[in-house]
Amino acid sequence: MILNQEQLSFFKVNGYLIVPKVMDSDLCAKARDLLWSTLPKETNIKREDPETHIGPFTGIDLEEDVTNLRQGYKWQLRSVGTDQLMIDLVYSDTLQQIAEDLLGKDSLVKPKVGGKTMGQHGAAWPGGPVDPALDNEGARGIYATLPYGVKEKESDFAHTDGHPFNLSLVGLIDEVLPDGGGFKVWPGSHKRLYPTFQMQYDQPRIAYYEHLPSYKGIIQSEAYEKQIRKVMEDTKPVDCFGSEGDVIFWHHRLAHMAGHNYSNKIRLAVLGDYIRTDLDENRSRPPQKNMWQDWSKELENASEVYSEKTARSQKLIDS
Ligand SMILES: [Fe+2]
Repeated sequence: MILNQEQLSFFKVNGYLIVPKVMDSDLCAKARDLLWSTLPKETNIKREDPETHIGPFTGIDLEEDVTNLRQGYKWQLRSVGTDQLMIDLVYSDTLQQIAEDLLGKDSLVKPKVGGKTMGQHGAAWPGGPVDPALDNEGARGIYATLPYGVKEKESDFAHTDGHPFNLSLVGLIDEVLPDGGGFKVWPGSHKRLYPTFQMQYDQPRIAYYEHLPSYKGIIQSEAYEKQIRKVMEDTKPVDCFGSEGDVIFWHHRLAHMAGHNYSNKIRLAVLGDYIRTDLDENRSRPPQKNMWQDWSKELENASEVYSEKTARSQKLIDS
């Protein structure tokens, strides 16, 4: 085991866990180089001049292709998701071991180098998000958020992801400053939202018809809508900023968002999901009384007590 009891307990109660310095520094540097190398030659955004990094994307830098999206303040390079480099980063032995500490030994689907990547089918439905699970055999990709500059402050809005998976991660491949667009989570929301779903890993969807455009995509239950509103009212989100190599693991029903970037530094992260080989069998089952049934025995049996020191290191309470 890489994770200790405190870490297991913290994840169980809060639905997320920051594990510091678990991605190789050289690989993080290579991933940054890879992202920067995809800009057009005449780009307005110059890597060596941070003042030009302030969003939104304009002119020649705009890209609508969702396999390498650059729009507004978001830059999502998905076409590299099964490159050796991305697999080495997101599915390294260390990160897979941590995922197994949470999900159980020898339980995971392995990624495929050179395999299919996210976004090749476009959005899941018109105007909808890209489906991270559709034909994806590796990581989601490299996700960046440009600094907002003078853009007005926006309020936080939590969501849960609509595709079936067991565990996800956000890996910081460069330092991310406080309020700098790091991953934002609503601690404990996984426990409150899990029972509101009809299916424990999936969601019913309405097909899209051009002549019947009012309904499309995912249908959330009323109980879910009510609960996530309550979560946003009564729970203070945690801004998971940090250093190069830090990784945030999170539960599939955790409320979260990509943070707004009010820092002066571009936010650079790799994203990926972990799925168990039995997800196909389990995804349509209703939420279970024991919500840790599909997780490791160590996690299932972990106490729900952890120290103040751990809470501080996890940014749950201010240090
Ligand atoms: Fe999400």
